[in-house]
Amino acid sequence: MELTDQHQRTHRSLRISIVDKCDLRCTYCMPEEQQFLHRSKLMTREEVRTLATLFVERYGITKVRLTGGEPLVRPDVVDIVRDMAALPVKLGLSTNGTRLHLFLDQLVAAGLKHLNISLDTFAADRFKKLSRREGHAQVMANIEAAIAKGLHVKVNMVVMRGVNEDELLRFVELTRERNVHVRFIEFMPFAGNHWGRGQVYTYAEMLGRIGSAHAIEKLDDDPHGTAKTYRVKGWKGTFAVISTVTEPFCGGCDRLRLTAEGKMRNCLFAREETDLLTALRRGDDLSELIVANVRAKHKMLGGLPPFQPDTQQEVLHGLSERPMVAIGG
Ligand code: 5AD
Ligand code: SF4
Repeated sequence: MELTDQHQRTHRSLRISIVDKCDLRCTYCMPEEQQFLHRSKLMTREEVRTLATLFVERYGITKVRLTGGEPLVRPDVVDIVRDMAALPVKLGLSTNGTRLHLFLDQLVAAGLKHLNISLDTFAADRFKKLSRREGHAQVMANIEAAIAKGLHVKVNMVVMRGVNEDELLRFVELTRERNVHVRFIEFMPFAGNHWGRGQVYTYAEMLGRIGSAHAIEKLDDDPHGTAKTYRVKGWKGTFAVISTVTEPFCGGCDRLRLTAEGKMRNCLFAREETDLLTALRRGDDLSELIVANVRAKHKMLGGLPPFQPDTQQEVLHGLSERPMVAIGG
């Protein structure tokens, strides 16, 4: 059976958060005083496997991405990767890169091929300000190690006006000699991240800046992605902009999410969740819950108004209580 919503989108991609904790405290992602869940509330390795298998075998999910918080703070992450790699899916993992050196070989041996690594700056002092923790040199080294190991690496930069937009071209440089994909993400509003429309460095501004320094060409986009893909002519890697704020592309979205405590969400910005884990632990049948959750998916932005400059209050008012760290990027 396919998971189709009320707007006729069929969903094939599932993001599974396996832990809500993180060893960094990125300002755009979580409040400094974030409370984390007790372990007994998290899905166990077996529960992750059971739910993922259900989504793949019964509902035609073909892409799984493991996220957090920071998935590599979970001690059994390699086992979970091995379980997921045994399913017939394209498997990826999103990480902040701080602990990658501890797991890289094991992750590759377990079957991981796709890695998204967050990097917002090349400057150690700026990293410390942005993530409220040390670790910049390790992340930089780990990105190079992951590329050297032959993983498909995407580097994600959240671009914020007055914070790091001056490093945009430095990030584009990553694609000159390396087969790396860099993604520039517009700063999005989440609970507690002090978002303002004015801090969004826009897709148009990014393209203008990159285009005035380099000859760039548009590449084909994944019809189910939110990324607009480009290449500097003649360069090895590619880059893309994720314009969720100024040009949301919800029309082709095929993503579903599971939080670390087993709550299903049909959108990053959803306010409704379906508690699959409690139902699973009770031994209930999950079909109706899953189908109803997908069906109810809003047409755009989880039902938020479009992010116009003058709708800031309305947007902030409509946000879910969850900060990004507890949703899973
Ligand atoms: N805006 C944009 N992207 C965000 N992420 C987290 N918070 C935000 C935000 N406010 C994404 C980034 C980061 C990943 C963990 O989640 O891609 O790299
Ligand atoms: Fe941690 Fe990623 Fe959130 Fe930063 S963005 S606090 S690394 S989960």
